[in-house]
Amino acid sequence: MSNPSRDPLLQPFQLKHLMMRNRIMSTAHEPAYSEDGLPKDRYRLYHVEKARGGIALTMTAGSAIVAEDSPAAFGNLHAYRDEIVPWLARLADDCHAHGSAVMIQITHLGRRTNWNHSDWLPVLAPSPIREPAHRSFPKEAEDWDLARIVRAYAAAAARMQAAGLDGIELEAYGHLMDGFWSPATNRRTDDYGGSLDNRLRFTFQVLDAIRATVGPAFIVGIRMVADEAWDKGLSRADGLEIGRRLVASGQIDFLNVIRGHIETDAALAEVIPIHGTRSAPHLDFAGEVRAALNIPVFHAARINDVATARHAIAAGLLDMVGMTRAHIADPHIARKVREGREQDIRPCVGATYCLDRIYEGREALCIHNPATGREAIMPHEVERAAGPHKSVVVVGAGPAGLEAARVAAARGHEVVLFEAADEPGGQIRLAARTRRRSELLGIAEWRMAQCQKLGVAMRFNELAEADDVLSKDPDVVIVATGGLPDTGFLEAGEDIVVSSWDILSGDARPGAEVLLFDDNGAHPGMQAAELLAEAGAKLEIVTPERFFAPEIGGLNHVAYARCFQEHGVRITINSRLRQVRREGNRLAAVIGSDYTDRTEERLADQVVVEHGTLPLDELYFVLKEQSSNRGEVDYRALIAGRPQAVVSNPDGRFRLFRIGDAVASRNIHAAIYDALRLCKDL
Ligand SMILES: Cc1cc2nc3c(=O)[nH]c(=O)nc-3n(C[C@H](O)[C@H](O)[C@H](O)COP(=O)(O)O)c2cc1C
Ligand code: SF4
Repeated sequence: MSNPSRDPLLQPFQLKHLMMRNRIMSTAHEPAYSEDGLPKDRYRLYHVEKARGGIALTMTAGSAIVAEDSPAAFGNLHAYRDEIVPWLARLADDCHAHGSAVMIQITHLGRRTNWNHSDWLPVLAPSPIREPAHRSFPKEAEDWDLARIVRAYAAAAARMQAAGLDGIELEAYGHLMDGFWSPATNRRTDDYGGSLDNRLRFTFQVLDAIRATVGPAFIVGIRMVADEAWDKGLSRADGLEIGRRLVASGQIDFLNVIRGHIETDAALAEVIPIHGTRSAPHLDFAGEVRAALNIPVFHAARINDVATARHAIAAGLLDMVGMTRAHIADPHIARKVREGREQDIRPCVGATYCLDRIYEGREALCIHNPATGREAIMPHEVERAAGPHKSVVVVGAGPAGLEAARVAAARGHEVVLFEAADEPGGQIRLAARTRRRSELLGIAEWRMAQCQKLGVAMRFNELAEADDVLSKDPDVVIVATGGLPDTGFLEAGEDIVVSSWDILSGDARPGAEVLLFDDNGAHPGMQAAELLAEAGAKLEIVTPERFFAPEIGGLNHVAYARCFQEHGVRITINSRLRQVRREGNRLAAVIGSDYTDRTEERLADQVVVEHGTLPLDELYFVLKEQSSNRGEVDYRALIAGRPQAVVSNPDGRFRLFRIGDAVASRNIHAAIYDALRLCKDL
């Protein structure tokens, strides 16, 4: 947009007394950065970065829990403890100092959690119906449970007000509150079941108690499912009626609209869609809710580019547009829009590595922004070094090499980037061969554009040898040459199998009957399997794991599972490919197991193997003895985010570092993090 002052996205929005500086928000999401259930420094710095980046409203927490019998499912904040107040107060003060409003989402998770940790209390729901995703069999809530939880909500709200937050949001999709609303989860015959009045009773008891505690001025909103898109759940008409009653009560100040239900990974993937699905699938629906109900409406669901967000506001579909994962990828969106630098926004490519990690008990990390969640030690904006400026040679333009070149150039150094192929991206290009995952190319494209802007000299189609590198008289050499598929793990038959890369690249045509052995558990094997299944191969996936591809999280699992079931792919777990031999014009695969000594054989036309990569490290070892650090990395300094200072060979003329899969077979995040943390201090 040529004139930022007229940009619909940058217009202020008044919610009651609260003036928000623009229309961009981050909706509630628990990044699992809490420590002991409290938002300590890591948590605070994560939100402050968004405030610095110009966001209008950051909704902290995701599902901060109001009671002990709602144990944390993924690092949720403990809104039921008084100790949370000073931590939140500091977070709010620091965000306010940068001009952003701060609210928090509170909830009782109901059956969407587990009982087998924390205080070992039974989890609770309106009716004893199991939630498949968390596998808990809940207790049916009794009257004294509900009275206690109503009081807990009010007490939690009071804590949030005491912390100086601008407001709260109640979570009502897939949790206890909406569990009462939905016929799918409420089978009660008492005052809390049956009619809509009864099903809303608990909600209004909570709202009454909260208002009695925080008063009429404090901002209270509700993030509600307005259509469960589920034959046995709430219809759109039900959702609108609930919305109408909430608005008519005068108790709430905004609605944050959700469409869908979340009791399985497949269902959750419709509410929080990942790459390969259409942009903003529920935006028009949210706009219909806004048109029907006279109340400010917020919404987020795969609105990850500025143009779509702008449309959401300009077309009057939303009052505040949620760009949640977009801010995990780049917390400085609003500032860059304001500065007319939209093209510098690091794109959210929808990989959903962030969300998948929290369901695996880890913290949310962005697949290609390693500074997110590490604000104390990693910069979102790389600062120019004071000088003197150095000559840096980077070999390899995969994710690690591109990031190294970008960061070194942003430091002000003179950077030459060699790449043997005719285009950048390395393994990202292979991953993007599955059309569903083609958005991943944005990881390479954004870095290429940044490198061009920063004046990196790019040398494609050049397989750099030591002389090429040394001819640049470098101060620093970064070897990011990646790896090649490791097929050497077989007892026999390595020469007659093909790798998943062969299938993905098109070097090997899919066979008619194929056995694919995956001993990596990550995307490459599954992508090859998807491609084979879609090409019509009769496919069996064999894996030594307890289920297929355990390195792929729940939301990324959905598309593979759907594809394999639709194409009748046979999946054999707990089994290990030992060897392959020719049998006539076919291949015989010998399959063993870690559990018994028995083996069995399968005949196939093609055997595809995925066992990670082995590093392409020849150049590194040629250069090693000539370097001043002999390639050594001081891990303590690396972990602490301090500069590298190893000098083990004073005669060396340059420092040498090896990053990404040129070290060991890992993933995109690891490759980019290697690069950022070594190069940010060059
Ligand atoms: C790591 C992560 C955790 C989340 N946790 C919550 C949560 O606790 N409560 C909630 O209402 N939404 C949660 N969400 C959903 C987001 O608020 C948002 O609806 C979703 O990411 C879709 O918006 P986006 O496409 O802009 O990212 C979470 C999302 C992510 C990425
Ligand atoms: S991991 Fe993927 S979905 Fe999540 S913020 Fe990063 S780019 Fe976006």
